[in-house]
Amino acid sequence: MADKIYVGGFKGGTGATTVCVGLGLALSEAGEKTLIVDGDNIGAGAMTVAGLGNMQVYTLADYERAACRAKQTACAHPKSSNLHIMPSLGLKNTSLIERAVNEVEGLFDYVLLDRAAKSICDRAIIVTEPYLPSIKSADGSKSALFDGGIKDVSLIVNKLNGGQVISGEVLPPEKIAEILRLKLLAVIPEDPTLPIGRWRKQTVSAFKTAADSVRGLNRGLFDFLKGYSGLNGFVKRKMRERI
Ligand SMILES: Nc1ncnc2c1ncn2[C@@H]1O[C@H](COP(=O)(O)OP(=O)(O)O)[C@@H](O)[C@H]1O
Ligand SMILES: [Mg+2]
Repeated sequence: MADKIYVGGFKGGTGATTVCVGLGLALSEAGEKTLIVDGDNIGAGAMTVAGLGNMQVYTLADYERAACRAKQTACAHPKSSNLHIMPSLGLKNTSLIERAVNEVEGLFDYVLLDRAAKSICDRAIIVTEPYLPSIKSADGSKSALFDGGIKDVSLIVNKLNGGQVISGEVLPPEKIAEILRLKLLAVIPEDPTLPIGRWRKQTVSAFKTAADSVRGLNRGLFDFLKGYSGLNGFVKRKMRERI
């Protein structure tokens, strides 16, 4: 049976889909057979972020009308044979996601569910930005997940800028986790190239560290302050303040 992990939270835009794809790529590179379930039945967000655009043959909408089996909807990632994405594009009855996952989970080590089917998940990762509205929403999401029966809920702080931590504009991720009383699983740095479909080396590296945490290998947190100390860091911080 796969380790089924719900990824998300109430608030949109915090980076749940990006985290699913980043973690999925890192887990699969580490040799773990990974399935991402794209819970976005209108926009196919995970398929798009993973660069699979229109590569699906079947989606869960075809499964819904019994035109294919669940396994056939899992679209292989061209760069990583261990990674598949299951698009829910066009699916009307989203409760069918649970049935589809039950059918295929035996083929995978990890199933990452992008804001989908929390009732069948073993654990959950709330993705938050280091900003107040997002942190508040993470608190509400935590209660809902606990109430829904998921006991193992941890936190990923995404879009963290080390310079903003140093200047006190945002709280350090450890503090955010402490306030929310959640285990801090990982930190992903702010990467302005992500929205245009590029992944900086340090972002890929942060996802590798995050994947290690997901696998239970305690390798610590990604060093989000690296590059923000000394004169260079000072200049970087000042330049950001002007944006
Ligand atoms: N670490 C990051 N740094 C900068 N931008 C990010 C980061 N993670 C996500 N984003 C951007 O934030 C936006 C929302 O991300 P997305 O993963 O779609 O969020 P969600 O699935 O929670 O709605 C996208 O434009 C994405 O590229
Ligand atoms: Mg999304």
